[in-house]
Amino acid sequence: MCGIIASTGEAASLNDLVEGLARLEYRGYDSAGVAVTREDGTMDRIRAVDGTASLKLLAELANDKSDGYIAGLGHTRWATHGRVTTDNAHPHFDCTGGLGVVHNGIVENFRELKNELEGSGHVFSSQTDTEVIAHLLEDYLKDGAILKDAVAASMSRLRGAMSFVALDANYPSVLVATKRMAPLVVGSGSHVNFVASDIPAILGKADTFYQVGDDQVVVVSPDGISLSDLFGNPMELAEIEVQWDLEAAARGGFRDFMSKEIFEQPAAVRDTLLGRLNQEGEIVLDEMRLDPDELRKINKIFIVGCGTSYHAGMVAKYAIEHWTRIPVELDISSEFRYRDPVLDKETLVIGVSQSGETLDTMAAMSEAAKLGAKTLVVSNVMGSSMARAADAVLYTRAGPEIGVAATKTHTAQIAALLLMALYLAQVRHSLDPHEVARVFSDMVMLPEKIQKVLTSDASIEEVAQAMVGVKRFYFIGRHVGYPVALEGALKLKEISYLPAEGYPAGELKHGPIAMIDADAVVFGMATRTRLWEKTISNVEEVRVRGAQIILVANEGDSESAALGDAIFEVPETHPLLAPVLDVIPLQLFAYHLAVSLGNDVDRPRNLAKTVTVE
Ligand code: G6P
Repeated sequence: MCGIIASTGEAASLNDLVEGLARLEYRGYDSAGVAVTREDGTMDRIRAVDGTASLKLLAELANDKSDGYIAGLGHTRWATHGRVTTDNAHPHFDCTGGLGVVHNGIVENFRELKNELEGSGHVFSSQTDTEVIAHLLEDYLKDGAILKDAVAASMSRLRGAMSFVALDANYPSVLVATKRMAPLVVGSGSHVNFVASDIPAILGKADTFYQVGDDQVVVVSPDGISLSDLFGNPMELAEIEVQWDLEAAARGGFRDFMSKEIFEQPAAVRDTLLGRLNQEGEIVLDEMRLDPDELRKINKIFIVGCGTSYHAGMVAKYAIEHWTRIPVELDISSEFRYRDPVLDKETLVIGVSQSGETLDTMAAMSEAAKLGAKTLVVSNVMGSSMARAADAVLYTRAGPEIGVAATKTHTAQIAALLLMALYLAQVRHSLDPHEVARVFSDMVMLPEKIQKVLTSDASIEEVAQAMVGVKRFYFIGRHVGYPVALEGALKLKEISYLPAEGYPAGELKHGPIAMIDADAVVFGMATRTRLWEKTISNVEEVRVRGAQIILVANEGDSESAALGDAIFEVPETHPLLAPVLDVIPLQLFAYHLAVSLGNDVDRPRNLAKTVTVE
């Protein structure tokens, strides 16, 4: 989730680097830094911590110090290995101080490499995984390799998804970069060439853009760009067609922010899970700030939140109770604070808030703290008011969400809360360590499975278009399918303005079924859990009363498919993780129906992204 920009050429400047970093800030803003080579063959580095403050500082320094700039590396960091300190900020240097690296992603085998490098005399000055790359390159260069070959040789020893750019003061204008399952593009402008993690960073500065494939090495100098594979075989440069202005670039070429954000969910979940498992197979939640001893004493949990965040909290309730056996109460934030809740110092109150600023949740959390409970907030915004005030914080790494109807932050929230539930089970020994690792490995598969669900976009769009004119929607589910049903209904209400209700499927016959007739459309959450048969019976009850049925079911489940007028297929996963996949077709359905109705999906009427009033 870090941002990278590097530039070289006659027209390259430190200002461009800093400006690019400002555009990349959403990828992480724990710290920022630049390293530049100068005409006299030296390399300078400026690094600073504290988000936007660091960028302001860099901008000031850029104005003072941009003379003699030959080439430079810029980085904005989201910490994975090593705390937020200046020493851990990128760029990282080798022992000589003449070779700099900026990196995005994780070097999974960094401990083993670090031990080996330290054993052969390398001195590390940070706790990051990145620094091993600088020292590895140093070794290859010492053995006489050129930087391009050193990068290729190092990359073949590094495990994990990542990209990095290296710059050697001995060849001060040559940037060498590589990537594996992480974004990296090359841009060429008038007398300037760039490497960056994202196109928006260099938009308006470069006019031709090139792709870099996995395990390819790109050499970018003032005179040109060349690409090869890890064995040195030359590869052809493929141009990327970019017709965006800055505003469209921010939307990444999507029609609106909501669709962009729906499609960003594989990355949002992947980044939220990144770096959370150590080599011993244990969950690590570095930023949590709550001592495992304190967590062992917790005997009751409350989860509070509003809107979509509340629904993520509801999924967590099932997981926490199942994995830890700690009783969990769930509350709408605005209800919690006025209902005289029973809390003490052995209670943990978890506030779920994308923005970290929602007044009702903030007030609920401060009420909890006043009553002596421990507080933990799950937020997408670093340094948000709630993140600062709580005893502990767990960040989702979804990137900024602009669309008012929450999508990617919701699935990232569920991922973060499930991680937290597993962590609690781990420190309290309520779950076998192998089971913790097994569930985590199922979680790691989620991004790929989300991607698969997203490929059904066009068929979901067709179903949604056929629903224009339907006046009432119902969503039913059991167990974790219930919060998914609530979220599906909320999405539809928020952007289509149509009546939509979510119910526990078993509750239907206690009232709601009276509303079912041929004008109703009912969504059933029918993935294969042990409650599948019961849900299907409830679906039958509404089907015989004339409702149209849409089922969210597992791929290839012909029995479910036979019962629905339309089927939204999702891959199988661990039953407690299913909401991360099952909610996605419902987001797409709500989106397409709202677009078909001509509504502004990014700015739905009467709603605000962050509600700071009671
Ligand atoms: C508003 C937004 C919702 C969001 C809710 C909670 O109502 O429109 O999309 O779920 O606030 O926001 P939070 O930032 O606390 O998650």
